[in-house]
Amino acid sequence: MLSIIAAVSANNALGKENKLLWHLPADLKRLKELTMGHHLIMGRKTFESLGRPLPGRPHIVISRDINLKFEGVTVVDSLEKAFELAKEDNQPFIFGGAEIYKQALPFIERIYLTRVNETFEGDAYFPELDMNNWELVSKLDFEPDEKNKFHYSYEEYKKRS
Ligand SMILES: NC(=O)c1ccc[n+]([C@@H]2O[C@H](COP(=O)([O-])OP(=O)(O)OC[C@H]3O[C@@H](n4cnc5c(N)ncnc54)[C@H](OP(=O)(O)O)[C@@H]3O)[C@@H](O)[C@H]2O)c1
Repeated sequence: MLSIIAAVSANNALGKENKLLWHLPADLKRLKELTMGHHLIMGRKTFESLGRPLPGRPHIVISRDINLKFEGVTVVDSLEKAFELAKEDNQPFIFGGAEIYKQALPFIERIYLTRVNETFEGDAYFPELDMNNWELVSKLDFEPDEKNKFHYSYEEYKKRS
């Protein structure tokens, strides 16, 4: 079940200048729980913004530069090669960023979206979801607290068959 995991603002912003726009520790914890042990497939820019692989998850980084090397990750030059490498995994995750989400979307079955209920100006945006193709199967809303300063929701979408 190829899945997307992403955190987006009310206006679908993902990041700016190759950084995230908010700090939401609760969401980072959830991301860890959901993805632990699974392949993470991401664009070269997203990997550079992480700086290093996250523990316990094989990383596949997509770049057009076939000579690119990063320690502890596999670099491939197409989405198809990334899917092939992760095919034994029952739930590989597309980890971003905007370019990779957009290209991967036609192949995705599930989307785990954290919605931060504020507007942010970004330079990378999540693709608009056509709700004819996607069904919202669960939504959990959270109030701000001491550590998480925004209203946010966990939304899970399933591809309509
Ligand atoms: N909020 C979130 O959940 C979230 C998650 C992830 C990322 N982000 C944010 O998103 C932003 C980065 O997104 P982005 O769209 O700028 O970059 P990206 O999708 O992370 O990476 C783009 C790079 O991927 C490679 N690429 C893309 N399509 C390819 C293809 N078909 N074949 C081979 N290589 C391909 C290219 O690398 P080369 O240039 O090396 O060829 C391209 O420059 C950052 O701000 C980051 O913080 C947010």
